[in-house]
Amino acid sequence: MNLKPETLIKIDEVITHYPEKRSAMMPLLHLIQEEVGYIPEEAITWVAEKLGLQPINVYEVVTFYPMFRRQPIGRRHIKVCRTLSCALRGGYQICEKFEQEFNTHRGAVSPDGEVTVEFVECLASCGTAPVVMVDDDLHEQVDGAKAQQIADRIKAEARQR
Ligand code: FES
Repeated sequence: MNLKPETLIKIDEVITHYPEKRSAMMPLLHLIQEEVGYIPEEAITWVAEKLGLQPINVYEVVTFYPMFRRQPIGRRHIKVCRTLSCALRGGYQICEKFEQEFNTHRGAVSPDGEVTVEFVECLASCGTAPVVMVDDDLHEQVDGAKAQQIADRIKAEARQR
């Protein structure tokens, strides 16, 4: 498994936090997904070896929890909160707006490979609902006009690449 040296250091460090190294499986999977964007097949065997488990043990966890992705995502990741405050203030319409703008649907990579739009649960910014995260940037009080600006910026940045 080809991971950045800093991720490997974090992984080795996280394992020391647990009396049984098998208990480090979830944080390891999160670290891998953070770097790679999803959990590829080779990560399953790699984590199993690292923790002295069978691949099936890791596979069961990866397929049980919906937050682990099995497929690559787009270059940009748009996460729209769908929990109560955001849902009541238009989160669903905002998500549809991004789907239309990028000609895609939730969870899929857009045809140009540029974005993945997804619903997520509460982003801990309920007072400024509805909120959207693009990669690591939080956007608050996102109405239709603001969603349009965000989409336009993503498209402009893609053209500069
Ligand atoms: S409900 Fe959306 S941030 Fe909490």
